[in-house]
Amino acid sequence: MFQFGSMNSIYKNILEQIDSGVMLFDEEGTLAFMNAQMYGMLEMQRYDLTGYSCVQMLNHTSFSRYKKKQLLRLYRETVYKGKTSHEFMDEYGRYWKVTASYGEKMNGYYLFVAKEISDYKQIEQTAYQNDNLAMLGKLSASIAHEIRNPLTAIRGFIQLLRPHLQGLGKEEYAKIILSEIDRANDIIHEFLSSSKPTPPQVAIIPVSALLKEVVLLTESEALMTGCQINLHAPHADLTVSVDVKQMKQVLLNMIRNAMEAVSDKESHTGGRIELGARRDGTSVRIFVSDNGKGMDSCTMDRLFNPFFTTKDTGTGLGLSVSERIVKNHGGTISVTSQLNEGTSFVISLPLIQ
Ligand SMILES: Nc1ncnc2c1ncn2[C@@H]1O[C@H](COP(=O)(O)OP(=O)(O)O)[C@@H](O)[C@H]1O
Ligand SMILES: [Mg+2]
Repeated sequence: MFQFGSMNSIYKNILEQIDSGVMLFDEEGTLAFMNAQMYGMLEMQRYDLTGYSCVQMLNHTSFSRYKKKQLLRLYRETVYKGKTSHEFMDEYGRYWKVTASYGEKMNGYYLFVAKEISDYKQIEQTAYQNDNLAMLGKLSASIAHEIRNPLTAIRGFIQLLRPHLQGLGKEEYAKIILSEIDRANDIIHEFLSSSKPTPPQVAIIPVSALLKEVVLLTESEALMTGCQINLHAPHADLTVSVDVKQMKQVLLNMIRNAMEAVSDKESHTGGRIELGARRDGTSVRIFVSDNGKGMDSCTMDRLFNPFFTTKDTGTGLGLSVSERIVKNHGGTISVTSQLNEGTSFVISLPLIQ
């Protein structure tokens, strides 16, 4: 019988040190060597099983039923079916890979080396999921694009029909169809702009400049809805590193929401939106607060979900897109709100130092 003692003790030491479990049987199926790692993996105390036959080993009292099953399966897959490696999940949900070497190159011996591969499995699964998500994103973007063309045609024909409907006293039908088509187009537009996998094109910009531009873009709309935007511009040396176009989109979404919240409020006099920024430790906090209708907790729980809206003509995409953009910049969005009092959104972005 093979005697491990006859091997150089250096080799034996090496086998004891490696992070894989090692198990060696001779040609008669007698255990010639098993390292500490393998004893650990089999959850056995360090009995010396050297010299035990396979059958004696499996029947050893310290083997659990599960381990016995796993070893029998290993035997079936490798020695019996001739596979050189075998992967399995144990009773604790960990993944293992066992490689088997035998035959001529091993002089009739059977060598089994076991290694935990849970981490690799997890990476593999995440990669697979990401791949699927990317595929789904591409597919839905192309479907959305294809839907836009027939919608444009329908819109054109409804406009042509409009005078005829007017003649029949049914002009409101045309109005409804047109506004619904516009809504569908809005959804597609927002969806397409959100699903484009463009990484942020960052530039360093003073926060005050960013906020001023956003105010310029929304001022006239605010005037029309009878609400005032107060800009609390921070000092010009407070800068952020952002994709200006994307960050403007986020702020516009929030200001539009604020304007809508103000005009949806039952007593909507003196609507005010406060827009500003300040430095807080290692981040820049940009806030958009309104004294609009506020939100109940049910809305608060869902407002970042895609397609969640409480508005008749809403798309429910504004905040989900905004959240994604801010996350891509390494930031976060937080919200506080009180029903009939108002809402405050805070965007935290990393400060560049
Ligand atoms: N400033 C706000 N005040 C009150 N409710 C808000 C405010 N901002 C967002 N919400 C709520 O969050 C929902 C989702 O917003 P959003 O994603 O921008 O979609 P949409 O504006 O198309 O409804 C809104 O329908 C509204 O109920
Ligand atoms: Mg919105």
